[in-house]
Amino acid sequence: MRMRKKKNLIPRMERCAPCRVQDGFALRGRWREALMPSARELRLEIGCGKGRFSAETAEQNPDVLYIALERVPDAMIVAMERCQAKGLTNIFFIDGDAALLRDYFAPDEVDLLYINFCDPWPGMKHARRRLTHEQFLILYRGILREGGQIHFKSDNHDLFEWSLFQFPKAGFVLSDVTRDLHGEGVRGVMTDYEEKFHLLGAPINRCVGAKEPMDPEPEFHPIAGPTRGPAGGGTGQEDDGGGGETKT
Ligand SMILES: C[S@@+](CC[C@H](N)C(=O)[O-])C[C@H]1O[C@@H](n2cnc3c(N)ncnc32)[C@H](O)[C@@H]1O
Repeated sequence: MRMRKKKNLIPRMERCAPCRVQDGFALRGRWREALMPSARELRLEIGCGKGRFSAETAEQNPDVLYIALERVPDAMIVAMERCQAKGLTNIFFIDGDAALLRDYFAPDEVDLLYINFCDPWPGMKHARRRLTHEQFLILYRGILREGGQIHFKSDNHDLFEWSLFQFPKAGFVLSDVTRDLHGEGVRGVMTDYEEKFHLLGAPINRCVGAKEPMDPEPEFHPIAGPTRGPAGGGTGQEDDGGGGETKT
């Protein structure tokens, strides 16, 4: 996704301080305790973009703690301002990268994880960058509780079909697999991308993966990427692409 640089990003970020987590690494293992002890669940969205889904989902479930991760501050600012405009107090944002999730969250800390319309990274050369690659799914295993779920949506047929083979390799049982989520009318909260593609007539794919025990546990290989620290440095970084048709 290419994002235009936002004007006044830094003062706008400062105004969103109440819902922005400055040092997510320091909250590892105590997100609920520090932010919302009464929360019945902790749900994490990876790559929230401009946050339509984040804001509406958090609004609908005020007893759930939501954490939204996004590595492009120019997108995340829009998401944070949306949540502030709604007066939400159960959603917080991390300016960071999915590759570092095990540094942000302790084992079993997350109940549910959303991956919505992630970049398809066409061509096998970049397959490992896809957020549904087996190695990313193994990374998520390390923070999800047993039985915890991943909810995945995509407009990209090739990415979706490829992902369906990745989930079982990482110990996730698939359910609710559909290739036309809104075929009989809109279902669930839409994301910004989803609304755009749906209006263009593109069918939306969705599935749920539930973490089941594996013996032995799959080996986790740290994912090459950023080192610890805010991914965008708070100054407005452009995404490095990944759009277009997936060829698998
Ligand atoms: C195609 S957009 C979709 C945005 C939103 N989920 C939606 O459906 O409207 C993908 C988003 O994921 C973010 N993203 C991609 N890789 C990421 C990573 N490794 N860590 C955090 N965010 C990431 C991008 O910056 C971008 O905002």
